[in-house]
Amino acid sequence: MFEELLRNWDGEHVVARFDEPSNAWMFVGVHSTVLGPAMGGTRMKVYRSADEALHDALRLSQAMTMKQAAAGLDFGGGKAVLAVSDIPAHGSAARRELMLRYGGLVESLGGSYLTAADMNTGEADLDIVGERTTHVLGRSLACGGSGSSGGATAVGVFHALRASVRHAFGSDDLSQRRVLVQGVGAVGSHLATLLRDAGARLVLADIDDVRATRVAEELGVETVPAIHVLDTECDAFSPCATGGVLSAEAIPLLRCRVVAGAANNQLATPWDADRIHDRGILYAPDYVANAGGVIHLAGYERLGWDEARVRARLAGIDQTLTDLFARSEREGITTAAAADRLALERLARAS
Ligand code: NAI
Repeated sequence: MFEELLRNWDGEHVVARFDEPSNAWMFVGVHSTVLGPAMGGTRMKVYRSADEALHDALRLSQAMTMKQAAAGLDFGGGKAVLAVSDIPAHGSAARRELMLRYGGLVESLGGSYLTAADMNTGEADLDIVGERTTHVLGRSLACGGSGSSGGATAVGVFHALRASVRHAFGSDDLSQRRVLVQGVGAVGSHLATLLRDAGARLVLADIDDVRATRVAEELGVETVPAIHVLDTECDAFSPCATGGVLSAEAIPLLRCRVVAGAANNQLATPWDADRIHDRGILYAPDYVANAGGVIHLAGYERLGWDEARVRARLAGIDQTLTDLFARSEREGITTAAAADRLALERLARAS
């Protein structure tokens, strides 16, 4: 299986290390350095097999190449996976030791890969990684980083939602719109605040009922049970929880005109781009809508941008999507295909 995965992958190189003390596999996929050093987060997860973990690292690193290219950033695509047998507790010695060894691995790549946070990793882990390498983004402010990128991702998704609503309804006045946010974690809760402040009629859902209720009460908005997300009527649906939400089973159930959210890999398969298009639902390609995170990390930690410049780039997601929607109509292709063309053209020009 390893061999088949690598044969079918069009990236540059993969580093694999078996970490004996923790019984974990570490995989770093450097998909492309055509535009610059590969940048992408570190996912820590319990996988069924090392093959499944490698597959995730390869797939996610490719998506990062597309995200950076479409965002106009001079960085490449990479991603790391720590395939653990149990997620070590926050603050434990086992977690600290694992992060130090992982930092050593990143350092050994000599800057071809810049790591950051992803599922189950955060600022505190990156602070430890940073004890072994400088090739790390998203450490805490106290340790010299720019902190969590969740807020910037939310601002970017807000611009994506506004551009999508304008295209679908002819006006971006959100006070006329009912918006459903799935997942009110770091990104979704911040996004919900921005939407509430813009006057949207908000509905929130989270598999963590306590969290959903707390955020909804703070904002004075409604909730729906997480299992009713797909069949809840709304103008715009914003997936901010997990990937694979837009599948052959889910798309027929949707009762919205727009999908624009933060989750990575929202389409379960490439064919789901056609399914959602055929239903007349406007889909804001995930890696364009959620580029706020990489804009924040690259801007503050590598490009020397100030807050005004970062904010302007986040607002630029609106124009990128407006152009993509126009291209999709002009060329008779899905919005996902239009995003891929934009990213691949930039890569082709650079190589
Ligand atoms: P998070 O872990 O802080 O929040 C995710 C929330 O979704 C949690 O409250 C969780 O309980 C909820 N959730 C999980 N499964 C659910 C389900 N089936 N239905 C309803 N709720 C569910 O994660 P964060 O940072 O807010 O990220 C959200 C998504 O955006 C993730 O898919 C992440 O990969 C993606 N993303 C995040 C970026 C960032 O800067 N934080 C950047 C780009 C993408």
